[in-house]
Amino acid sequence: MKITTVILAAGKGSRMRSELPKVLHKIAHKPLLQHVYELSSQLNNNSIKIVYGHGGDLVKEALQGINANWAEQKQQLGTGHAVQQVADQIEAQDIVLILYGDVPLLKLATVEKLIALVSDKSIGLLTVNLANPTGYGRIVRNTDGKVLKIVEEKDASSEEKLITEGNTGILALQGGDLKRWLSQLGNSNAQGEYYLTDVIEMAVNDGFTVNTRLAESEDEVLGVNNRLQLSHLERVYQKEQAEKLMELGVTLLDPTRFDIRGEIAHLGTDIIVDVNVIFEGVNSIGNNVKIGANTQIKDSVIGDDVEILSHCVIENAVVGQGSRVGPYARLRPEAILADHVHIGNFVEIKKSTIATGSKVNHLSYIGDSTVGSQVNIGAGTITCNYDGVNKFRTIIEDGAFIGSDTQLVAPVTIGKNATIGAGSTITKDSPENQLTLSRSKQTSIASWQRPVKKDK
Ligand code: UD1
Ligand code: CA
Repeated sequence: MKITTVILAAGKGSRMRSELPKVLHKIAHKPLLQHVYELSSQLNNNSIKIVYGHGGDLVKEALQGINANWAEQKQQLGTGHAVQQVADQIEAQDIVLILYGDVPLLKLATVEKLIALVSDKSIGLLTVNLANPTGYGRIVRNTDGKVLKIVEEKDASSEEKLITEGNTGILALQGGDLKRWLSQLGNSNAQGEYYLTDVIEMAVNDGFTVNTRLAESEDEVLGVNNRLQLSHLERVYQKEQAEKLMELGVTLLDPTRFDIRGEIAHLGTDIIVDVNVIFEGVNSIGNNVKIGANTQIKDSVIGDDVEILSHCVIENAVVGQGSRVGPYARLRPEAILADHVHIGNFVEIKKSTIATGSKVNHLSYIGDSTVGSQVNIGAGTITCNYDGVNKFRTIIEDGAFIGSDTQLVAPVTIGKNATIGAGSTITKDSPENQLTLSRSKQTSIASWQRPVKKDK
């Protein structure tokens, strides 16, 4: 069985009041259209066609690299007209699945069940029970419950408007049937559009059965038309993600204040996550990890028994087993912490490796550095890695002790077990085991008197 998925994404989305095409607005940092694409790409033996229109180049650019054919619908003359744009790419024996590019939360299981409703004499239609059906096409059934047609809100009689079973727009049918019906579509209706929904009545007239399936919820099939719906679906999506994580054994102190924008490649046991934590990109989290409030972790690997205190920003970093980071720490890309490393408040680490048991506890910048094991870096230490043009490395060997408020002007090496006196500006390599310091001599002026305020 070969499937052709047609994703309708040409609509303007004027109610978004945005320069950005609607399908590029995001849920969990991912364009709406990409959610739909990723769902359909989970179907086997499937070729995907995307009908685009408004802001076409932007849409293509944002989703470049996906495995789909693009078809432009120059004028948006209706959903039926949109599908007509790819009719010549559809084979008669294909099962065609119609999806909307602005319906991001549709479930794979729903789609699979819908496809199973298609046969030589039947089509599958996804419908939804609605508390308020306003705006939706209504499913018109006869007294036996058999589907007869779909009537659009603007074409509906007052009696039909009372129907609460709505059309989701999502349907599955055989390619040959679809192509035949598409060629018969007209636009004599209230909106002067070519309605894809007219296909239903044509199917019935051709002796087909319309098999329906109800969506799990309204939210599963809700299309985004405005920012309110966008934010609503973001919350629904985040709630689903939070529930998945809790089912997998993660403690979320408040599931309504937790966001995941991406995926978790590895998830350990007994992870505790405080409020307002954001996981972005692809993260891997070990066992017994505690993550403090207001922390953001992106594309990182967090080892077992790690504690991340509140207000940390961690990106493209590795935190080794038993390490402690924060509060208020920033691990920038390529910060690699080995086991039992301590990174404290207002410390920034960039493109540096820090070996086992080393500590950078307060107010420091460590960039482009190789730090050995059991090193202690005092408060306010800065690696001066940049001369305005080039970056240079700082090497701090095992067991070194860097006194507070030290500048290490790279390229520079601090030898094994060396001690650097507080307040030093180190411009030359410092030998192993010795104390090195660069500090102007302290003087006291005994005769000095504080200035006093002059009389007016
Ligand atoms: C459509 C259905 C309606 C259903 C509703 C569910 C029709 C005639 N009506 O209504 O029965 O209840 O969806 O939300 O099908 N699109 C194009 N090109 C076009 C027009 C639309 O690509 O020319 C795309 C849009 O980008 C969107 C989808 O098709 O992704 C639906 O379009 P929209 O205008 O929202 O459909 P409705 O008129 O609301
Ligand atoms: Ca709509």
